[in-house]
Order: sequence, then structure tokens, then C-alpha cells
Amino acid sequence: MALVFAANLTDLVEDEPLPVKLGDEHVALYLLDGKVHATHNVCTHQFALLSDGYMEDGCIECPLHQGKFDIRTGVAVCAPAAQPIRVYPVHVEGDVVMIDI
Ligand code: FES
Repeated sequence: MALVFAANLTDLVEDEPLPVKLGDEHVALYLLDGKVHATHNVCTHQFALLSDGYMEDGCIECPLHQGKFDIRTGVAVCAPAAQPIRVYPVHVEGDVVMIDI
């Protein structure tokens, strides 16, 4: 496991995705019902940053063609997105959010 610092917990707002770049990796962080989740931030349909999209009911809606992904599992739940997005294990220690990339 390679945990890397991603953000401070206080940077996260419920239902508002936060983009972070970790090396070459585009990651989106989410605060959902008080729990932090992390996914790859690039849509699997075409190139769009999911963090520019709309978060609702535990899903992130892609801003380009409105495909949707479950942020807890990465599963594509609405066309035209069909392939899942990667999800990362999250570890929170106090105010520090780390993810395993
Ligand atoms: Fe995301 Fe098309 S680029 S649904």
C-alpha cells in the first residue's frame, strides 16, 4: 500500500467534488454522508473531468454527456458511460486525507 497525501479533510465540502493531481494521476475526492471517497477524475467515455460535474445521490454526473458513476464503487450507472472508473482506498487521520494510488 502506497498512501499519499491528497488533501485536508477541511478542504472537502459535502456533495462538492474536489480535484487533486497526484503526480500524473487525476483524482477526485468526495465527501458523502461524512465519509471520504476517491475516484479517478477522468471519465471513461471521453476526456472530461468528473470533478466539473454534478454530484447527487452518491453519483457523479459527467459534465460532457451526463454519464454517471457511483463514487463508492466506480460503477457506470448511466449511459453513455459504460466502463467503471477506478476507485482508490482512502485513509483519514485527523484532518489528513490519504489515498492509495
Ligand atoms: Fe463523460 Fe461522455 S465524456 S459521458
